Amino acid sequence: MKKLTTTLLALTAASALVLSGCSSDRGGDSGGDSTGGGESAAAGFEEGATIGVALPQKTSENWVLAEELFNDGLTEAGFKPIVQFANGGVSEQQSQIDAMVEQGAKVIIVGAIDGTQLGSQLKSAADQGVKVIAYDRLLENTDAVDLYVAFDNFRVGELQGEALLTGLAERKGEGPYNIELIAGSPDDANSTPFFEGAMSVLQPKIDDGTLTVVSGQTSQEQVATQGWKAENAQKRMDTIVSGSYGDGTELHGILSPNDTLARAALTSVSQAGLPTPVITGQDSEVESVKSIVAGEQYSTIYKDTRELVAESIRQVQLAQKGEDFEANDTESYDNGVKVVPAFLLDPIIVTQENAADVYANDPTLGPLTQ
Ligand code: BGC
Repeated sequence: MKKLTTTLLALTAASALVLSGCSSDRGGDSGGDSTGGGESAAAGFEEGATIGVALPQKTSENWVLAEELFNDGLTEAGFKPIVQFANGGVSEQQSQIDAMVEQGAKVIIVGAIDGTQLGSQLKSAADQGVKVIAYDRLLENTDAVDLYVAFDNFRVGELQGEALLTGLAERKGEGPYNIELIAGSPDDANSTPFFEGAMSVLQPKIDDGTLTVVSGQTSQEQVATQGWKAENAQKRMDTIVSGSYGDGTELHGILSPNDTLARAALTSVSQAGLPTPVITGQDSEVESVKSIVAGEQYSTIYKDTRELVAESIRQVQLAQKGEDFEANDTESYDNGVKVVPAFLLDPIIVTQENAADVYANDPTLGPLTQ
């Protein structure tokens, strides 16, 4: 995964590139920089068509909210939504996608559990002329994906790395500092850009001695959290805390890729009787926002699910009218088979200082920060 440039992110929807599709019903009068092959304008598909949304497991609040927003938003836009979680795992998600194709879905939006495991389902979808949008997580090793709609994952990691450094300076005085690292689930395509984004900021500080990872666990493989499960992060942290900090060594900071894992790590540290470290997060989960306001968790990331779902539905509407999908980044997301055109949104870092401003218009989080 290549580093994303902020310039690309500055592009707005208005200046977004208009994509040609990979199927033959695309092209035509797109009104933008069409890369289409000059085929006649596509007919799109009927209003009221079925749209499938395959969501992963409920590993964080953003997915739960997405279910409701997709159901409401697609219905409001006149479509017939089929929105399903795959709590049973990858094989359940595979059969759900097959069933969506059988039920005549015109677009399938996929938040994959494991983006490498859906190749044959996506191929049969594409063979039937179904368009596929990767939602939040990239679909890998397949050319049967037309668009990726997500927040900029590498930038999320960079913001987390920067927040950890700022938090350490603010709350722990002058360095050097002792830290530990946590990464997301290895089967989630997002875990790598999150970790690499953060390490692009932290590694130079490890190299120059400002930061020490006392456990010595610094590779993504060593610090990964299978299934994004809180209990897995907590268990690993319990072992580290007793093994590396049991002798009074101070733990100053923890890089956590999301809020669920941040709270798990904080539980482990406080059960061991250690002072609260500076810890990052992501998702703006209610409990973590309260913790940030109370001065415990240091930071989170705001990726407004309402925006991400609305953007996905806007793209479905373009396809319905026979227009091309729009992307604002056509170079960063190589999925192993092709560079998937992406429409990326900007993540926002949130700390105690800016929480009230950032969440001012969020109906759930706004009131918590007033
Ligand atoms: C999402 C994160 C979320 C994680 C666990 C990732 O793919 O981008 O926002 O914290 O999954 O659910």
